[in-house]
Amino acid sequence: MQHFSTLNKIFEEQFIKTTFPAHPKNLYDACNYFLKLGGKRIRPVCVLMSNELFDNIDPDAFEVANAVELFHNFTLIHDDIMDKAPLRRGRETVHIKYNEATALLAGDVMIVKAYDCINKIKTARLKKILALFNKTAREVCEGQQLDMDFEKMEEVNFDNYLHMITLKTSVLLAASLQMGAVLGGAGLGNQQHIFEFGKKLGIAFQVQDDYLDALGDPEKFGKKLGGDILANKKTFLLIHAMEALSPAGQIELKKLLKHNDASKVEKVIALYHECKAGEWATALKEKYFNEALEHLEDIAVTSSRKKDLEALALFLMQRES
Ligand code: IPE
Ligand code: IPE
Ligand code: MG
Ligand code: MG
Ligand code: MG
Repeated sequence: MQHFSTLNKIFEEQFIKTTFPAHPKNLYDACNYFLKLGGKRIRPVCVLMSNELFDNIDPDAFEVANAVELFHNFTLIHDDIMDKAPLRRGRETVHIKYNEATALLAGDVMIVKAYDCINKIKTARLKKILALFNKTAREVCEGQQLDMDFEKMEEVNFDNYLHMITLKTSVLLAASLQMGAVLGGAGLGNQQHIFEFGKKLGIAFQVQDDYLDALGDPEKFGKKLGGDILANKKTFLLIHAMEALSPAGQIELKKLLKHNDASKVEKVIALYHECKAGEWATALKEKYFNEALEHLEDIAVTSSRKKDLEALALFLMQRES
């Protein structure tokens, strides 16, 4: 079994060879620009690590790893348009550096390239992988639509929030792990456990993402702090604050939600501090992290082989960018 950093390096060395044609220059420059900004490469490492949990790494696992990373980058480019985000990975987002049309198209060609990778799978497992990949891609779109719908709603309850983040974020992590397991020859039971591990981990991951967006360290974060507040995103912090603030605080928060100017960010963050939303987010993240570990335990593989997945989970919980 190999550590996150080792697999990350192995992944990166072959992913860097992902090439796009030279023309139209604007389109492919945008693709190269974004892919070269890096990112944590969590999902492809999940594919490889899960694959290795069951067998030696299968060459097909690299095709799937490349496909999920390309798909993820496609979702980010489009997400940044939807969220009007100026910064990503510490640099200008694609629609700001180029323009919206180019950003849409760069995302589009990335997902097409993702399918090219899937198409390179050499075994009969291609059909199962494709079905899983497509189900996941559809769910991410559904989650993203709910995320946008929620911006316009005054209140969203916790269950609806959970459903939305499961779709927009968790299922891709879960499916990345499951696809690695499928290619490793894992049985259905083990596939389900690793999927559930990823699903719970993905929920904890998005809670951390919401936390960092408002309360993270701007030096390390790489995205514009307070972006969720400005866009009226229904994050865990906001949902908690709506319940936990004093009646006066709740009225103030509702008033701020109707404002669209950047000055509200600071005020909403102060309200988050007032009701200890950050501490609640940490507790919630830990709850889902622990539930994830229970599913990892249930996988019928010697526990010493699971150490790297456990470390990966911990790394995701402690991330600051
Ligand atoms: C960001 O994902 C999008 C979410 C699902 C929250 P990552 O935090 O994995 O983004 P990169 O690839 O490392 O930049
Ligand atoms: C993004 O959620 C989920 C997807 C890209 C599918 P966010 O909008 O919270 O992700 P960031 O914070 O921009 O990375
Ligand atoms: Mg976003
Ligand atoms: Mg978004
Ligand atoms: Mg976010």
